[in-house]
Amino acid sequence: MDKLETLLNHHLNQVEECLRSSLSGSVYENSVNEMCLRIVSSGGKRIRPKIAILVWYALHGTEPESRLIHFASAAEILHTATLVHDDVIDKATVRRGVKTLNETEGNHLAVLAGDYLFTKCFMFINEVNEKELAQLMNKTLASLVTGEINQLQNKDNLDITLEDYLNTVYCKTGALFELTSAGTAIVAKQSQQTVDMLREYGKQLGIAFQVTDDMLDYTANSKTLGKNIGEDLEDGRITMPLIFALKKCPQDEHAILKNAILNNNLPQVLKFIEKTAAIEECTKFALEAANRAKDSLTALSPSCYKDALIDLAFKACNRSY
Ligand code: IPE
Ligand code: IPE
Ligand code: MG
Ligand code: MG
Repeated sequence: MDKLETLLNHHLNQVEECLRSSLSGSVYENSVNEMCLRIVSSGGKRIRPKIAILVWYALHGTEPESRLIHFASAAEILHTATLVHDDVIDKATVRRGVKTLNETEGNHLAVLAGDYLFTKCFMFINEVNEKELAQLMNKTLASLVTGEINQLQNKDNLDITLEDYLNTVYCKTGALFELTSAGTAIVAKQSQQTVDMLREYGKQLGIAFQVTDDMLDYTANSKTLGKNIGEDLEDGRITMPLIFALKKCPQDEHAILKNAILNNNLPQVLKFIEKTAAIEECTKFALEAANRAKDSLTALSPSCYKDALIDLAFKACNRSY
């Protein structure tokens, strides 16, 4: 393990400790804590706290204050809360290789467990005690909700434009990455210019990340991914692979593809995706966003942390889970 990895693991362990201690201790809340700990302990890539730690070092170069560890924990627990609610909305049965809370406990308890996780996020944000951060956090929450609503309103909408899709992607995923990177600059008391630079980095990385997630829903191995594939098609979410397949599909086969999508015919849809090279187009798009994330950091001083942030943006596009 190299020095940077050891350092990252050390701070990620601190975040893990924060997450766990925020979900233990209160006897009255045992039952909800147990549900939340199940999802927190089931794994996950922890990419958001990783970004917070790397941004901090790239800006500061010194050991993070406890405020940063609290902020990184807030970002991860907010992400977890949105996953719990998202799985209810998407009727997902498996996440991180284990059954979702909606599957084991039912929708009602899963919604409440998600709400409880939001309260833990607010608790961490209070501890950071930074007004500008609390304001950014409010904006992010509004974006996340708007993204999920837009997505629901576009169910089975085969005429969705790339622009509408990307707007949803930004709202439901980009905004949280933006909060993570720009929020770290706020915790580190950086200038508005630096905050804006990191805002752009998070936004572009988030787009690369979600476009890749949408591709993986067609191309991944369920076991490796830890989620069932084909769920976007099943629920009528018209994501980038379908948008490109519809665009590139020969005119005389349009009706066949549209029917295959609306009838949830995954094998036939996959044939069109292959025929139109839609996955290659998505990869190209995700890589362009990763390149924009890289370019946004031009003004940041060179360091191994900056290199790791750039690497993370490209890894977001090149992953199997
Ligand atoms: C899943 O996020 C939801 C999306 C934004 C696509 P992650 O892929 O970061 O989920 P975990 O935390 O690693 O499970
Ligand atoms: C991202 O969208 C979910 C959130 C922002 C909560 P998806 O619905 O594609 O995420 P997965 O595939 O369920 O992880
Ligand atoms: Mg989902
Ligand atoms: Mg998905």
